[in-house]
Order: sequence, then C-alpha cells, then structure tokens
Amino acid sequence: MKSRIAILSAALAVSATIGGVAWAQGAATVLDGAYTEAQAQTGQDQFSAHCAACHGSGLTGNGEAPALVGGEFISNWAGLTLGDLFERIRTTMPQDNPGKLSRDQYAQILAFILKSNGYPAGQKAMDTRTPFLNAIGFVPPPHH
Ligand code: HEC
Repeated sequence: MKSRIAILSAALAVSATIGGVAWAQGAATVLDGAYTEAQAQTGQDQFSAHCAACHGSGLTGNGEAPALVGGEFISNWAGLTLGDLFERIRTTMPQDNPGKLSRDQYAQILAFILKSNGYPAGQKAMDTRTPFLNAIGFVPPPHH
C-alpha cells in the first residue's frame, strides 16, 4: 500500500512539472479567468491615477506611449506569459517613476488591462507572485 502511494505521488509530481512548462498544451491561459472583477474595478482607478496621463483613459495611447488595447499590443505579448507582462509593467512603468506601486496595485492594473482587451474575469484573484503568473500563458482574446 505504501509503495502504491509513493508511485502515485511521484506520477503527480511529474505531471505538475510538465504542466508548469507546457502551458501551451492545455494548461492555464488568460482565457481561463486570470483576475477578478473586483481587481479590475480597483485597477481602473489605479490606471487613471498612474498610467492614463500617458496611455490615455481609453488605453489607446498618446502618440509616444503605445496603446494597451488592440491588435498591436496583443501581438507584442502573445506567446509570452502573464508573468512577462507583469514584470515588464512592474519594472518599467510608470515610465517617470518605475516600480513605485505595490505588487497588489500592479496586479489590479493588469486586471483592468486584461478586461479592457476582452479577457474574461474569474473567481480567483490574480496572484502577485511572478512565478505563479509565469504559469499563465498570454494568448489572443476571444474574437480577436
Ligand atoms: C510618463 C508616461 C508614461 C506613464 C505614466 C506610463 N507609461 Fe507605459 N509607456 C510609456 C512609453 C513612452 C512607452 C513606450 C516606451 C517603452 O516601452 O518604455 C510605454 C510602454 C508601456 C508598455 C509596453 C506596451 C507594449 O505594447 O508592449 C506597457 C505594458 C505599459 N507602458 C504599461 C503602463 C502602465 C500599466 C502604466 C501605469 C502603471 C504606465 N505604463 C505608465 C509611457 C508611460
């Protein structure tokens, strides 16, 4: 009995490892609901306060700062992970004072950006730990 349990848990450990790497083959993506509605709501206020001056309140950019909605933005990130986008924002934005916000605030803002691009909300709040976000694939939104 003991050895059966050992074999089973070894098998689970292996599939968990594979799942973390091969997100493109059936693991989590931003289509699965990577944030909550509440996060996106707060994120909208955070975005207005810290990002909209350059990126526009409609996220369409201002000529210098690029749009954070639409085809070009999506194709810049498709094939990467939510963690890549989170780190890009966390370490370089707002451009005039990078890193000034908390991880919670960056996650809320990222939730608002996802919502603005048509990605669905889910039941579970977006994690603020980068390794967890790295396990979520960034793929084009529905009807893209
Ligand atoms: C002072 C102006 C300014 C502010 C404020 C600002 N940005 Fe930016 N942002 C830019 C500029 C300019 C670029 C393009 C140059 C670059 O990539 O650094 C950019 C690029 C980006 C990109 C990369 C877009 C892409 O297609 O890959 C993201 C994402 C982004 N900003 C998010 C944010 C978020 C989120 C905030 C608020 C926390 C923010 N920015 C605040 C000016 C700004």
